[in-house]
Amino acid sequence: MGKNGKLKIEKDADGMTCHIDGETAKAAAVRDAIIRTMRAVDVKGDEVMPVLGEAVIEFLIVIAKACNVDELELIRGFGEGIYTAQVEFKKIKTADIMKKVELYNDHFQNFKVYGIPHAQMIIADPPYNLGKNAYASNPAWYKDGDNKNGESELAGKEFFDTDKDFRPAEFMHFCSQMLVKEPKTGVTDEELGAEKNDMAGSKRKSKAPCMVLFCAFEQLHYYIDLGRRYGFMHYIPLVFRKNFSAQVLKANMKIVGNCEYGLVLYKDKLPKFNNDGQMIFNCFDWVRDNETPKVHPTQKPVPLLERLIEIFTDEGDVVIDPCAGSGTTLLAAMNKMRRAYGFEIKKDFYKEATEKVLRVCQPKLF
Ligand SMILES: C[S@@+](CC[C@H](N)C(=O)[O-])C[C@H]1O[C@@H](n2cnc3c(N)ncnc32)[C@H](O)[C@@H]1O
Repeated sequence: MGKNGKLKIEKDADGMTCHIDGETAKAAAVRDAIIRTMRAVDVKGDEVMPVLGEAVIEFLIVIAKACNVDELELIRGFGEGIYTAQVEFKKIKTADIMKKVELYNDHFQNFKVYGIPHAQMIIADPPYNLGKNAYASNPAWYKDGDNKNGESELAGKEFFDTDKDFRPAEFMHFCSQMLVKEPKTGVTDEELGAEKNDMAGSKRKSKAPCMVLFCAFEQLHYYIDLGRRYGFMHYIPLVFRKNFSAQVLKANMKIVGNCEYGLVLYKDKLPKFNNDGQMIFNCFDWVRDNETPKVHPTQKPVPLLERLIEIFTDEGDVVIDPCAGSGTTLLAAMNKMRRAYGFEIKKDFYKEATEKVLRVCQPKLF
């Protein structure tokens, strides 16, 4: 190889391939380093160089010496190659993901019509069946939120007229059908309880699916029991802590609630868990979402959904929301490069979700 030997990075069916002056050096280490770097950095051209991992630099120096080429030139070529590959990779991935986000204006019960893939994670916020007092402790019960003004049109109303028709058993059946099958490898709660410290790393890395369900505190045990009937034998309770309360009208009379509740439900194996080696508490901060257009009375914040999606799925995995409302789950999944599918029966919510919430990301889809 001559002094000016160039390094070119190409994407092929196997992933990344490095060509050095026509010769192919397919090295898993380099490929992995490139992919890791591309994920870690979002910088341009030469800026890539300073943040290249030390291992890659060292590797390149070894190559440069072996090939008798200038080290710096080789590293610069590599940096440019990464940048080009990064841009291309992002384009391919974004296009790929965007093709795979769909919200249907239909009952989730009709899912078979759409032939959607099985999901790594289902996020569901089913109607709370609060009945006619849905706005009971919410200021919206009164005109302009002030009880001196008398009751508003929301007093004594349910959130949606579809609330009372919601069928939890059909919902749970959908979830148990639409999650990917549990893999053979993985750890169960029992095994974790009797933790053998020599448990192999590969066994710890689970690919099992799960569902995350938002529900009222009073519904927690109902859904735990219902889940068991559909094979979800395990649960982790979740608490979402707000720094505000919707129950302000009662604030001077009793302790008011500032939490929402939920469950992680899974069948046998512990679900996929991306935690960077950190502990994850079951009490999450309810980060206010001031960016997403507000189109639904029980809209969930996108940053919170993104956090949950990142924990339980990887890029490219499928996330389904059977009761999508404003489409925030789909937006969060899309932001995190996951494929997403959702159902929403109310035409108005569907319209606003597609026109306001999901519009920015996928203008041509609807
Ligand atoms: C609690 S809301 C979900 C809000 C959503 N998480 C958000 O962030 O906007 C429940 C939604 O489920 C919808 N829904 C009720 N039954 C349904 C069904 N069978 N299929 C699809 N959607 C349904 C309701 O119209 C309502 O918008």
